Amino acid sequence: MIYLDNAASTPVHEKVIEEMLPYFREQYGNPSSIHRHGRLANIAIQNARKRIAELINANSNEILITSGGTESNNTAIYGIASQSKGRHIITSSIEHDAILEPCKRLERDGYRITFLPVDKYGFVNLEDLKKEISDDTCLITIMYANNEVGTIQPIKEISKIAREKNVVFHTDAVQAVGKIPIDVKELGVDLLSISSHKINGPKGIGALYVKKGVKISPLMLGGGQERGLRSGTENVASIAGFGMACKLANDDMSENAIHCKKLTTKLTSRVLAEIPFTTLNGHPDMRIPNNTHFTFLGVSGEDLIIKLDENKISASTGSACSVKIQKASHVLKAMGFSHEQVTGSLRLTVGITNTEKEIDETVEVLKKVVQELRSVSPYKSKYNF
Ligand SMILES: Cc1ncc(COP(=O)(O)O)c(C=O)c1O
Repeated sequence: MIYLDNAASTPVHEKVIEEMLPYFREQYGNPSSIHRHGRLANIAIQNARKRIAELINANSNEILITSGGTESNNTAIYGIASQSKGRHIITSSIEHDAILEPCKRLERDGYRITFLPVDKYGFVNLEDLKKEISDDTCLITIMYANNEVGTIQPIKEISKIAREKNVVFHTDAVQAVGKIPIDVKELGVDLLSISSHKINGPKGIGALYVKKGVKISPLMLGGGQERGLRSGTENVASIAGFGMACKLANDDMSENAIHCKKLTTKLTSRVLAEIPFTTLNGHPDMRIPNNTHFTFLGVSGEDLIIKLDENKISASTGSACSVKIQKASHVLKAMGFSHEQVTGSLRLTVGITNTEKEIDETVEVLKKVVQELRSVSPYKSKYNF
């Protein structure tokens, strides 16, 4: 089996599993309890919080632990909107559904939402952003790296614009954290979302960085855990695992990035050279190191995924998180792609466990299956395949 869908999720690192096991077996106390079992669980959370903070150069008390990227994004949006006077939010048209859907709900509730357009690479235009900010704007939320095409936005510049206009700035950094160096102090962002399962940690756990002094309202009320910002007994084992995943991502970041870049460079150059009528989508350089995203004209990305799966290769068209319902990618449409280009797209994302041999095998399979699909394609005569 070859797994090339690391943007959807990653294998849990062996050291992460080891870190988690004691919290199922011996250290099962409730972290809010005063006794020794409780204290040990609480210490585990504080250690993990420190590791999460270190990955993005935050302070421990700026880390709010959540159930993952989706909850972090929802908390950022509702948490700011519900306690701000302003009723206007600016986002981009290529965000993950975990941003778009809460924004759309707020729109139904009477908020004004601006969905900024993007160019052919997936970049928002900073002049467009500046023009849209008004006295009523309470939040700007723009993703760090796109989950489909991997394009990295100029987050530092966007953050500066937001700060100058006194608007809270959130970034969904789920696909960027652990892949490229992120320093929240240097960026000056107010809120930043992280997800554990994208960095070889367990699923269902993540964090929202909340800059000191930024006030948000909680989504969940109850026992007052997480300084009142997220009630509910903490998922200690997953938090400990997430902490270890952050430590490993931090320790090995440049080594992992070099490894992933080597694989994606090889994959890209071989695919473009050996399979005609194929393009690489997203920006050629300003992209996260583990992402490739192609359009193979004349084939359907879904058919391609099925064929790859038959050959024991796991890939994606790009919108894996809105599972099962295969809708045309809103990201590619916003980038100005034609129906044919959107249909023929395929995302291959590598991770720390992939090898060069796997990349070579994948290219060979791709050459074969693309040719097979093109031989029965309705576009056959158009391109003379
Ligand atoms: C950019 C982005 N934001 C948010 C999420 C949701 O994160 P989670 O699966 O942890 O809820 C994902 C998941 O793919 C993502 O890629």
